[in-house]
Amino acid sequence: MKGTSYVARQPDEQGIIHYSEEENRIWSELLARQMSWLPGRACDQYLEGLRKLNLPADRIPQLAEVDAVLEQATGWRTAQVPALISFQHFFELLADKQFPVATFIRSREEFDYLQEPDIFHEIFGHCPLLTNPAFAHFTHTYGKLGLAASPKERVFLARLYWFTVEFGLVQTEQGLRIYGGGILSSPGETRYALSDEPERVTMSVLDALRTPYRIDIMQPIYYVLNHLDDLFDIAELDLMSLVKQAQELGLHEPKFPPKQKVS
Ligand SMILES: [Fe+2]
Repeated sequence: MKGTSYVARQPDEQGIIHYSEEENRIWSELLARQMSWLPGRACDQYLEGLRKLNLPADRIPQLAEVDAVLEQATGWRTAQVPALISFQHFFELLADKQFPVATFIRSREEFDYLQEPDIFHEIFGHCPLLTNPAFAHFTHTYGKLGLAASPKERVFLARLYWFTVEFGLVQTEQGLRIYGGGILSSPGETRYALSDEPERVTMSVLDALRTPYRIDIMQPIYYVLNHLDDLFDIAELDLMSLVKQAQELGLHEPKFPPKQKVS
């Protein structure tokens, strides 16, 4: 994995992280901009979680504030981690209902897009849905399976996570909505994902496990759930035997051009 120049901020003895004015301003601007795109695009369960979290508009929230809401809703909490963590650590945390949050925020130069998940992505993108029982259960199950999986199996499992938790769409009575945190924390992809441009197909776990993705482009394909509660059913499937099938069948043809090598 590529390195990062971001460093997670450390709390003081009282557990409080003191962000600079500029860091709080970046949070505030990201939040205001993204809130304007959510109506009619984000799914109701996400918006409900956002209401419960009641995130501050003028400063980066402290993790304890978020934890108080998550613990009451689903027994989840956040875990403060460095900017990048290993797969092993990631799965250990999820298996223990802890959602890793790196306590740094993107710089102004990377305001629109950055590859490392920052605190805006983790809290604004993912934490609202961690108040939802189906999403929370699926994420917990994924953590437990990933912890027990081999490195090769983990690579397959990661694709399912990508096409659900990060980039999932869901069909609702009001129309197509977004639940993936990778989309909901990105203004560009929030509009693009529901536009005519990308391909959208009904969720097939086996196909999602076999679909290659790139982290540095808008997704050419999204998988759509019929209902957010389908995440409960997916968690109850024998996912590891589906991973085995996916390994035997191999990957689908990528729908994106190969990444240009930087020389
Ligand atoms: Fe994420």
